[in-house]
Amino acid sequence: MEFALLNGNIIKRSDAKIDIEDRGYQFGDGVYEVIRIYNGRMFTIDEHLNRFLKSAESIGISIPFTSLQLKELLDELLLKNNLETGNIYMQVTRGTAPRNHLFPSGDIMPTLVAYTIKGVRPLESLKSGVKAILTEDIRWLRCDIKSLNLLGNLLAKQKASEQGCFEAIQHRGDDVTEGSSSNIFIVKNGTVITHESNHLILKGITKDVILDICVINNIPVQERTFSVAELEEADEVFLSSTTAEVMPVVEINGKKVQSGVPGHTTRKLQELFEKEIENQCGVLLR
Ligand code: PDD
Repeated sequence: MEFALLNGNIIKRSDAKIDIEDRGYQFGDGVYEVIRIYNGRMFTIDEHLNRFLKSAESIGISIPFTSLQLKELLDELLLKNNLETGNIYMQVTRGTAPRNHLFPSGDIMPTLVAYTIKGVRPLESLKSGVKAILTEDIRWLRCDIKSLNLLGNLLAKQKASEQGCFEAIQHRGDDVTEGSSSNIFIVKNGTVITHESNHLILKGITKDVILDICVINNIPVQERTFSVAELEEADEVFLSSTTAEVMPVVEINGKKVQSGVPGHTTRKLQELFEKEIENQCGVLLR
């Protein structure tokens, strides 16, 4: 039997039901997190919980649990579902109230849900890399909030998929921002470059782990805006996310990135990233 977390209680997943006037359902009025599980353990859990609480706070939702309480509940959920490898999906909405654009007055309880999803690491793609398209970033200007409103991201991802690609690399005019569900990195002359974490992108947890790895291992790194032309002329391109880890991008808009195979720095970062997973979650099966 599968279990889910609903407002602090772990219940049968099939019993977890949300009201049709939940503001998440009607307005996308809420925020979420995806947390990776390796060997039954949560990777970078503190960072995910901090971002979750911060995203919620930035839209005025106050989650009635501390980070520690959430961690304990998620641990219990993992145990009950006996999850070895996969993800936890967690979201909170402003709660249930008669439909009105205005925030409901009075004390409505946010709706907090979490459940687990089995899933293996994308080993084949990690080895050979993935293809991407370029597309204009049509999203709002608070991409730093991990909002449930993902329409812009969905349209971009769908377009990529329809062209046989894994990801859509978005740009605002000349500036590359991020993928539809990932952060984007280029490597030029040995320097790793990725967009600064501001309102135009999500401050990826994986991105931050990679930046730390670069600093610790003396790999030159810059957090700055880079152009579509720099992307097209890059020595290496890769993307990062909780589920995709350090994923080489070997083709963009039908044109190979250099020779079309994952580059040296990307490989090195994959290795170091796996070490970090193993530090936190134990030895990985390969
Ligand atoms: N997506 N940018 C966007 C728009 C994202 O949706 C994500 C993650 C990232 C990478 O963030 P992180 O490294 O913290 O996962 C960047 C998740 C995995 C998703 O929506 O499924």
